Amino acid sequence: MSTSNEHFWWQRGVIYQIYPRSFMDSNGDGIGDLQGVINRLDYLSITLGVDAIWLSPFYPSPMADFGYDVSDYTNVAPVFGDLETFDQLVLHAHQRGLKIIIDFVPNHSSDQHPWFQNSRSSRHNPQRDWYVWADPKPDGSPPNNWLSVFGGSAWEWDQTTNQYYLHSFLKEQPDLNWRNPQVKDAMFAALRFWLDRDVDGFRIDVTHFIMKDPALRDNPLKPTADRTMHKSLGEYDSQIHIHDQGHPDVHRIYRELRLLLDEYSLDQPRVSIGEIHIFDWDKWASYYGSNLDELHMPFNFQLLGVEWQAQKVRKIVDSLEAVLPPGAWPNYVLGNHDETRLASRLGPLGARLAAMLLLTLRGTPTLYYGDEIGMTDVHIPPKKQQDPWGKRVPGLGRDGCRTPMQWDASTLAGFTPPGTQRTWLPVAENFQQVNVEIQLHQPGSLLNLYRKLLAYRKIAPALQIGNYYPIDGVHEDCFAFRRYHPGHPPLIVVLNFSAQDLTLELSEHGIGYIVISTNLDREEKVDLPGLHLRKMEGLMIEVDR
Ligand code: GLC
Repeated sequence: MSTSNEHFWWQRGVIYQIYPRSFMDSNGDGIGDLQGVINRLDYLSITLGVDAIWLSPFYPSPMADFGYDVSDYTNVAPVFGDLETFDQLVLHAHQRGLKIIIDFVPNHSSDQHPWFQNSRSSRHNPQRDWYVWADPKPDGSPPNNWLSVFGGSAWEWDQTTNQYYLHSFLKEQPDLNWRNPQVKDAMFAALRFWLDRDVDGFRIDVTHFIMKDPALRDNPLKPTADRTMHKSLGEYDSQIHIHDQGHPDVHRIYRELRLLLDEYSLDQPRVSIGEIHIFDWDKWASYYGSNLDELHMPFNFQLLGVEWQAQKVRKIVDSLEAVLPPGAWPNYVLGNHDETRLASRLGPLGARLAAMLLLTLRGTPTLYYGDEIGMTDVHIPPKKQQDPWGKRVPGLGRDGCRTPMQWDASTLAGFTPPGTQRTWLPVAENFQQVNVEIQLHQPGSLLNLYRKLLAYRKIAPALQIGNYYPIDGVHEDCFAFRRYHPGHPPLIVVLNFSAQDLTLELSEHGIGYIVISTNLDREEKVDLPGLHLRKMEGLMIEVDR
C-alpha cells in the first residue's frame, strides 16, 4: 500500500479550467485576460480551494478558433497580456500553492503562423514538409475521404502550389507534420520555453490526432447503427477514424515528450494530460504508455455523455478501475469549453449530485469555470455567435458554455471593470441570481457545496488517494461506494439518482456520521440500516470500519 508521500500534486489535487476570454476582464475591452486571472487568484485558492488551474490557450492567434489556432507558440496574445503578465501569474499562483497547467496545441498551428506561411509559399521551401501536403486525385478532388471535425473535407486546395493541405479542424488550422523531426524539435522547444518559465504541466489538445496514416488511406465508413458518439458530430461521425488520427506511431512521440517532462520534474513534478476523445477503454488507456511512460493522464470524458442513471455511472467508474494499467492514475471530467454545461445537462439537483460524485471518486477531478455556481448554457442569437463550428454546422456551436463568469450582481456580472459597454459573448440573463457573491452568502448554495467538498477533500486522504470499493446491492437507483486509506477514517458515499426518496439497507456498515449532504442541511449521526435519502440527494458518511 502506498503512503501519501508517494502521490504527486496532480494526483491529490483538483484542477480548475479557465477559459481566459471568459473568466475576468481587467482592462475593460470585454474580453478576459491574464491580469484578470491574477486578480481572482484568491478566489481560486482560498474561497474555492482548488489546487491547479488549466488555462485554455492565450497564445498569439488570429482567433479563428479562439486561440486553438496558434500563430506563435512562445508568446502571449496582446488581448490577454504579455509574457511579463504571464510570469506574474505563475509567480502569484505559486505563492498561493496553485499549480499552472497550460494548453499545448500540437496538431495544428494557425495558417498565419510563419511556419505555414513559409510552407505554402513554394513546394521547395525548406518548411514545405512541416505540414501535410498532397496531390489531388486525377479528377482534381481531395486526396482521400478524410473529413474536418468542423464539417466538410479535411483538405483545402492551395492555388499557389497546386496541392491540397490537411486540416483536421478549420482550414485556418493546418495540421503539422509530426513525421518531420524538425517539427517535433520546434514543438519540444516550445515546451521547454514554458517549462523554463515554471509552468507545472500541459493539457495537450487533441493528443491522438498528431499521427496519421503515412499512406493517407481512406477511412472506412461507419454503419449507421454504430454512430453513437456522445455529442452528434454530424457528417464526421459517418466514418471510422482509423487513418486520420491515432496512428500507432503517436506513442513514440508521447514517450519522448514524457522524457522531456521527466527531465524537468526532478525538483518540481510536471504533468501531461491528454485531450483524447477515444471511447474504447483499451485504446484510451494505451495513452498512459505500456510502461506508464507516456501521458500522466489521458482525460477521461466518459461521464460527459453518460445517461444520468446510477448503474450507468457506476459502470463507467468500474470499467475505468478495471482497465487502468497498474499504477496508472484515474481522472474524471464533467465539463469543459466544448460541452453543454453541467447544470444544463443535469438540472440543479443533478448538478449537486455530480459535484459530490466528481469530488469523491478516486482520481483527479477537473472542474470547468462557472460550474461551481451552476452556470447554465446561454442561448446565443445567430448574430452574436462567435464559435466557427456553430457558424458552419448550426446546432454544434460551443458559445453557450463559454459566456462570461458571473461574479456578482453588478452590471455585466462583475466580469469587467465598471463602465465597460459590452462583452465578447453576452452575459447570462440569470446573473443576478446566479453569481459567486450571492452564493457565498447563501449557506445552502451550490458554491458552498463545492467549497465544502473541496475543503473536506483537502484533509481526507481517503478521498485524495484512498482505494475505491463499489458497494453492491444497495438500490438500482443508487450508486454507493467506499473510499479508504489505511490509518484514516473510511468514508462511504451514497448517491440517489432518482426523483424519489429512498430508504436503504446498508446494514453491514453499522453507524455512521453524515459529514456532507448535497442539500447542505444535514450533519448528523445516522443508523446505516434504514438510511434515508431524499430525491437526488448524495451523502458522504464517515464510518468507523
Ligand atoms: C480541442 C479543443 C477545441 C478546439 C479543437 C481544435 O478539441 O478543446 O476547443 O476547437 O481542439 O483545436
